[in-house]
Amino acid sequence: MNTKLKFPLFCYIICSVSIFSAKAQSAYTDAQIAFKSDSLIKLMTLEEKVNMIHASSSFTSGGVPRLGIPEMVTSDGPHGVRLEHGRGWNAQKGVLDSGTYLPTGICLASTWNPALGFAFGSVLGSEANFRGKDVILGPGINIMRSPLNGRNFEYLSEDPYLVSKMVVGYIKGVQAQGISACVKHFAGNNQETNRGSIDVQMSERALREIYLPGFKAAIQEGGVYTLMGSYNKFRGQWATQNNYLINQILKKEWGFKGAVISDWGAVHSTAQAMWNGTDLEMGTDLDMGPHPNYGKFFLGDTVVTLVKTGKMPVSLVDDKVRRLLYVMYKTNMLGGGKRMKGEYNTAAHQATAQKVAEEGIVLLKNEDKILPLKSDIKSIAVIGYNADRKQAMGGGSSQIKAFFEVTPLQGLQNIAGKKVKITYTKGYNIARGAGADADMIKQAVQAASKADVAVIVGGWTHGYDYNVWSDNAYDTEGFDKTDMQMPFGQNELIKAVLAANPRTVVVLMGGGPMDVTQWVGDAKGVIQAWYPGMEGGNALAKIIFGQVNPSGKLPVSFPKKLEDAPAIKLGQYPGDGVTVNYFDDIYVGYRYFDTYKVEPQFAFGYGLSYTTFKYSDLHVQTGDKTATVTFKIKNTGAVAGAEVAQLYVKQEKLNLPRPEKELKGFDKVYLQAGEEKTVTLTLNEDAFKYFNDVKNQWEMDPGVFDFIVGSSSRDIRLTGTGTL
Ligand code: NOJ
Repeated sequence: MNTKLKFPLFCYIICSVSIFSAKAQSAYTDAQIAFKSDSLIKLMTLEEKVNMIHASSSFTSGGVPRLGIPEMVTSDGPHGVRLEHGRGWNAQKGVLDSGTYLPTGICLASTWNPALGFAFGSVLGSEANFRGKDVILGPGINIMRSPLNGRNFEYLSEDPYLVSKMVVGYIKGVQAQGISACVKHFAGNNQETNRGSIDVQMSERALREIYLPGFKAAIQEGGVYTLMGSYNKFRGQWATQNNYLINQILKKEWGFKGAVISDWGAVHSTAQAMWNGTDLEMGTDLDMGPHPNYGKFFLGDTVVTLVKTGKMPVSLVDDKVRRLLYVMYKTNMLGGGKRMKGEYNTAAHQATAQKVAEEGIVLLKNEDKILPLKSDIKSIAVIGYNADRKQAMGGGSSQIKAFFEVTPLQGLQNIAGKKVKITYTKGYNIARGAGADADMIKQAVQAASKADVAVIVGGWTHGYDYNVWSDNAYDTEGFDKTDMQMPFGQNELIKAVLAANPRTVVVLMGGGPMDVTQWVGDAKGVIQAWYPGMEGGNALAKIIFGQVNPSGKLPVSFPKKLEDAPAIKLGQYPGDGVTVNYFDDIYVGYRYFDTYKVEPQFAFGYGLSYTTFKYSDLHVQTGDKTATVTFKIKNTGAVAGAEVAQLYVKQEKLNLPRPEKELKGFDKVYLQAGEEKTVTLTLNEDAFKYFNDVKNQWEMDPGVFDFIVGSSSRDIRLTGTGTL
């Protein structure tokens, strides 16, 4: 294995992106933009203004050609620029729209590396420019509340602090290219089941402490220009046209200056959308036939009539137009600033995809050092449908037409070289309801028993068609999973292969936890590979062969059983069809497992390395409302590696119940073999506050705090205390 870490080249990529970024910024200050926008608004007719606040095709909003205001062109999605859709949602012919397919959000978050968030966003921004887009509909940052949510693969984490750290880099990366990011889905869209009708009820404390911080960071730290409202209701009112969420919190409290875009078809009434802060109504024209009339949208002709008859003030329309113009000036769609040309399918973009996969794939188990594979291995039996399945086009609106996609099988073939004989057998079939296939298992067992090592690649799999409950609809928009059990008879397959060859490594793909209890005790090697993007197969193979030392950590807890998940144990999930009550409150993920003393299968923040790290010399220095925590980490093994050191905080005496501990800082530290570094984490007041929903405000109670440093939320290495 390489003993040197390979990041200088990568650093170059990140640095060069930020050097270019200056050119993408608008030439105007916000005050100048406000002045210019008002001047433009004065020149516009009411009809022209209203034309701007609704779609003009599936992915564009209306422009005002007379005044040189272009249409705003949007595109999904979180991990690549989506394939081309024409004005009527049909595929466009003759456009090169197969681009870079980055690992999905959950894999990005597993890197715990905000700089990679920036690099990831830069690729998206650059490719969006190349493809003539103005807005990228991502990142998706809804909290992973239930392990069954069909879109967890797109989202980042169960933890609001980790979400906040990753989202800021992503947004800055996109926007440094002169493209607007669009953070979504605001708010409470934590399940796909009944997403278009369900009324989400949660306490103010859960909203403030768990579900909103990522969005707040996106606005206040990331400076995102657009935000997408979600499909669900929130406390009885549609989220996309929700007075409390949009007017009160987003725009008034947080000072959001940009535009609120509806999710597609999420507007339900003209009056609410107009008054409650929706700035742009987007949606499909599928119901409108070959010559769609977008004037029929809620924010269309009706608005013109209402204003003309004096029933609605024109100032409401102006505010929306002003916000859209703000986005346009910021992205140099207006104002004469130069748009960047962007690049498509470059080696650098692919390198970013690979780097995110290398740092995001998580090593979950490595007994008897089964991994990395030793150089004397002569044969590998690769087993499992996912080993040779391309996933890019699955998942719903986040689908990507990948320029290429290296599957795990191809990756292993690429790295193994000619001396290693690789056989492949599917082991199971992807079809809903398909149980174990005795013949396929027999073939797999035969292959495994003849090989030095078996590598099974299974797990969830992306559904391709999210409009129907299709046979392979797991990890897809529109549908949640029905349970956490491994589908397609994989448990039987894995058990049989493990019995035939104990030198078996199980690789799980997918957007979150599965019930592995039937076999995990017997498996020596387990890897979580998520959906690792176009270079995922190469990244995985490099980890398996030890060319890359794994450093990913779980951004979400893996419960042993579905029943252990707090959304199910304490809360309601998926609700009664009308309402879903988040009785689990602030006890999401590890906040629940730790406080309620429930053993997870794999803990939040957990992930193994091929080397070992020693933590020492913890010092906590507290100020009035701040703390500086320093400690040392030494790489005590034989190879270079990276460790994500996590800092959790706990207050000793509580006025209101609080979770056992909460993540408030982390650092990914890269260390050569034998190297030691000092880590310094600075915490401000926010790290110690909680939302007191009796008084309806954030509070900090002075007192003694524990500073808990761990390699995961359950592998605690150092603990100190401090008084604030
Ligand atoms: C609906 C999805 O919820 C959203 O994430 C996506 O951006 C839009 N459709 C557009 O495809």
